[in-house]
Amino acid sequence: MAMLDYVYTGWGAFWVTMFMFVPFALMAYWVIRRKSLVDTGPTQLQPSEFAPIEGVWLTFAFIFFVVANLASLKYIPWAAASGTTNGEPAVQIDFTAKSWAYDISNRQIEAGKPVKFSGRATDTQHGFAVYHPNGRVLFTMLMMPGTTKPTSVVYTFKEPGKYAVRCLEYCGVAHHRMQDELTVVAAN
Ligand code: CUA
Repeated sequence: MAMLDYVYTGWGAFWVTMFMFVPFALMAYWVIRRKSLVDTGPTQLQPSEFAPIEGVWLTFAFIFFVVANLASLKYIPWAAASGTTNGEPAVQIDFTAKSWAYDISNRQIEAGKPVKFSGRATDTQHGFAVYHPNGRVLFTMLMMPGTTKPTSVVYTFKEPGKYAVRCLEYCGVAHHRMQDELTVVAAN
């Protein structure tokens, strides 16, 4: 288990999420304190003074949004999305996701052979993210209930090892515990 696993799984993920609320809680406290204790009167700013401030803020938010999205493009795992098998027939693995577990037709995979994962969700939306043993996400899938076609991805595992599967779509109170494991063995 990688050390960072604690922040992805079990209650670790819950407490990390809680920790992210700390800045918002501090901000709320600061605003309430200022408005109710320090400055009890109405704001002295004229409506016409708001426009330039909002303009600056929106420009900053827009630039940040565009730059952050462009800069992170290269980290998207395209390999799985391309779905190529190089002419080889893919090994089929079917799975069903429901709150909060997976039913997977086969958890043992041979390295070097393309695998076609086809998944369905039965109750609500679920994810199926496969992690390399080093902790990196290899690909992730989204399953919606009520679709006629399953969600499919073709992926070829290169190295043997234990590959964690985690749900990355919020699906209810035990979402953080929805996980499984695939075992990749060396090719014969
Ligand atoms: Cu299933 Cu989150």
